[in-house]
Order: sequence, then C-alpha cells, then structure tokens
Amino acid sequence: MTTLKIGVAGVGRIGKIHLENILQHFPNIEIALVADPSEEAEKYVLGKNLNFSNDYNNIIKNPDIEAVIICSPTDTHANFVERAAQSGKHIFCEKPLDLSLQTVVKTLDIVKKSGVKLMLGFNRRFDPNFLKIKSMVDSGKIGDPQILKITSRDPGPPPISYIKVSGGLFMDMAIHDFDMARYIMNKEVVEVYSRGAVLVDPAIGDAGDIDTALTTLTFEDGTMANIDNSRKAVYGYDQRLEVFGSKGMVKADNNFPDNHQYFSADGIHGSLPLNFFLERYTTSYLNELEAFFKSVQNGEDLPVSGKDGLEAMKIALAALKSVMEKRPVWIKDLR
Ligand SMILES: NC(=O)c1ccc[n+]([C@@H]2O[C@H](COP(=O)([O-])OP(=O)(O)OC[C@H]3O[C@@H](n4cnc5c(N)ncnc54)[C@H](O)[C@@H]3O)[C@@H](O)[C@H]2O)c1
Repeated sequence: MTTLKIGVAGVGRIGKIHLENILQHFPNIEIALVADPSEEAEKYVLGKNLNFSNDYNNIIKNPDIEAVIICSPTDTHANFVERAAQSGKHIFCEKPLDLSLQTVVKTLDIVKKSGVKLMLGFNRRFDPNFLKIKSMVDSGKIGDPQILKITSRDPGPPPISYIKVSGGLFMDMAIHDFDMARYIMNKEVVEVYSRGAVLVDPAIGDAGDIDTALTTLTFEDGTMANIDNSRKAVYGYDQRLEVFGSKGMVKADNNFPDNHQYFSADGIHGSLPLNFFLERYTTSYLNELEAFFKSVQNGEDLPVSGKDGLEAMKIALAALKSVMEKRPVWIKDLR
C-alpha cells in the first residue's frame, strides 16, 4: 500500500489522541505537517520529530498533502473544511462542523462539488459495545426496536472558557447521543422535546449554557428515544445504552478499568467507570481513523458522512429551541 501524506490541524485534547494513534498504529500514514498556533503544541509536535507550522495555510499550500485531520476548535471547522476541499484534500473533521445550519449547508455543498471525502468524528459509532448493539438491532434479534435509552453524563464540566465557544451542551456534548440515536435506530428524527437546567455550576448558566438535560426524540415511524445528559457525574463517565424491542432488549453498561468486586459488612464495592472519553473511547478513536484511511486509500465507503453531521446538528438546534420555547420542536420547522 502506498503511503498517504496528511496534515493535522490542532493538537489539543482530541488532536493529540489522533496524532498518537496515527504514529503508533498506521505505518502507511505519514504526518507531513501539524498546524497549531499555540506554543505548547509547537513543543509537543517538535518533540515527536514532526514538521510544525503555526498556520493552517501551510497545510493547504502543500500539494503533497492528500488528507487533513481537523481537530482545532469548532469555530475553525467550516472554514478549514472548505479550504481543504477546494484544494482537493480528503477530510476527517471533529464534530460539530459548525454552529450555524446555514454555514454547514454551504460547507457541505462546497465539499460535494469538490468530490473529496468528508468524514465527521462521531467516534461512538466505532465503540465495540455500541457496534455489538447495532449489529443485534440490525439482525432483528430484538424484533422491532421501540424505545432507545441513552445515558450520557460527563465526570465533570469543561472550563468555562471552553463552554463559551463550544456551542452549548446540545451542540458540543449531546450531539454524539443524537448521532447515536439515528445510527442505532436507522431512521430520522422528526420531533424533539427537551428540558434543560443549570444544576451543576451556576457559572455555566452565567456563560449562557445549561448543564443538565432530558430529551425525548420521536422518529418518523413513532418510535422514541430518551436521552439523559449531565455535565457532572461524581462517579465518573456514565455512558450506557439500551434498546427495547418487540422481541427483547439489549443494553451496554459502562466500561470499568477492572471487574473486581469487594464484599464487606458495608456492601459490595467495585471500581468506578473509566473516567472520561480519552480512556473510555480509546478503541473507537482508533477504529474511526482506520475507517477513514481505508476509505481514502482503498476507496471503501465512508461510515460517517457530512449529512450525518448535518442531521445530528439539526436535532441539537431543535433541542435548544425546545428548551428555550418550552415546547416540542419539529425538525422540518427548523430554518
Ligand atoms: N469526538 C470527540 O470525542 C471529541 C472530544 C473532544 C473534542 N472534540 C472536538 O474537537 C475539537 C477540539 O476540541 P479539544 O477538546 O481538543 O480542544 P482543545 O482546546 O483542547 O484543542 C484545540 C487545539 O486547536 C488549536 N487551535 C486553535 N486555533 C487553531 C487554528 N486556527 N489552527 C490550528 N489549530 C488551532 C489550539 O491551540 C489547541 O491546541 C472541538 O471541535 C470539539 O468539539 C471531539
């Protein structure tokens, strides 16, 4: 297999995960350039003996680079994706594509015209637990799926500076759950009803966001999903999923660092769930990059498209509107 030359934009929390995975697991991928304006990133990248620039333009201008991995902040995504597409480079971009529906539609149009591949980083689709559930639902093991339940709670909120530019709980955090709901149920959401509150930290409310939410999604055939989000679960990262259907039920519990159980006069005790996304979704991050590179190098279909990004985003926007207006919101009524 020939070597694929790529550029990486942004090496913060998620960029470092992807970069390390590429260096350790993909011998046919060459990181030709990493771009990030921060000094900390420069030190980190040079420490890995990789080429560094503080300007994304230098990735775009390099004709040898065939694909980009975009892990910079959300407000750079649409612009970076458009420029990569216009210079004929395939794109893996972290979620979400942008916070504005209009911008996403425009960006996807540019990508379509350019003919390059665009994959969105909905990594949870590649988690072994959820893949198993998906395959059981698809093979009819639980009959007709009727109710999906997703519990998705972070161990602690991100810094307020991140919250302010993140797009809010629905667009930043629950968007993964909205994508998962479409993916597991294999159909589109038509109506969204959400309630939100600030129960974790008043500073999150001061920053214009919520930290707790309950959402009910209704799909085109009347089946439903219930999603429960919190920015703070004191016992760690709480990621569970259950599908109930006409022939049974399938569920996935949290992942733990070990499965010991300690029995004493006080009760039965075990380890807390794996702490956060870096630990919990390690395999999924690796699997999603593998899928992207296979698609670019072998011409295989992309498992997550720009349209998937758009549909999840519509649900997030409808959820926010639902909280603000205290009523169910139809996806078709979004502008
Ligand atoms: N899929 C997931 O599980 C997951 C997890 C975390 C974050 N994300 C997404 O990834 C993106 C980054 O999040 P993060 O938590 O890594 O943020 P972060 O703040 O830790 O890192 C962002 C990095 O991008 C750099 N950057 C800023 N402006 C840039 C520019 N113009 N060009 C290149 N680099 C630039 C910053 O210096 C920083 O190093 C966000 O869109 C977020 O929604 C996805």
